[in-house]
Amino acid sequence: NAIKVGLIVGSLRKESINRRLAGAIVKMAPAQLQFEDIPIGDLPLYNQDLDTALPEPVQRFKQAVESAQALLFVTPEYNRSFPGVLKNALDWGSRPWGKSSWPNKPAGVIGASGSPVGTALAQEHLRLVLAALDVPTLAQPFVFVQHAEGLYDDSGAIANQVVRNFVQGFVDRYAAFVTRHVG
Ligand code: FNR
Repeated sequence: NAIKVGLIVGSLRKESINRRLAGAIVKMAPAQLQFEDIPIGDLPLYNQDLDTALPEPVQRFKQAVESAQALLFVTPEYNRSFPGVLKNALDWGSRPWGKSSWPNKPAGVIGASGSPVGTALAQEHLRLVLAALDVPTLAQPFVFVQHAEGLYDDSGAIANQVVRNFVQGFVDRYAAFVTRHVG
């Protein structure tokens, strides 16, 4: 029985290293996990005036989140937190009051940066917000992927054995976590 996983990448950039990491993770995951990209780039800036008449991209976004059984966040770190575009999406998904799309979707959090501990704080901040949204997150392993030239091969898989094993460990634990929650 397949599990639908909503994939949310916190970067809108075409050449995003987090988008690349997400692509590699999708390839490594067991076939049971069926990933569906949930775009956040078309969402307007959050405005509470619109809670009573959600703009169409917001309605689409909320439906996509609601139809996912689990979530995977792959995010960059901006100024020691996660990007505003991602916070914007999290806020939209939580509204209107009483109609949040988030509760109880088990989630994984991971990220890539050029710096060795890059995304550690972004991931911590994201976990705090996800807790507020009643989204249970996989606690361990806590993985930051240091991006480097040649990290990925032509197929988009992680070429570096050490990094690949590390990320595979995350993916395996994530798959078990999601299966436990979703059943
Ligand atoms: C960054 N970057 C960054 N990196 C990091 O490890 N810690 C940080 O606090 C920041 N801060 C930061 C702020 C802003 C506004 C930008 C644009 C960038 C660098 C960041 O890791 C790098 O640009 C990544 O390539 C961004 O991820 P994507 O877009 O490639 O997925």
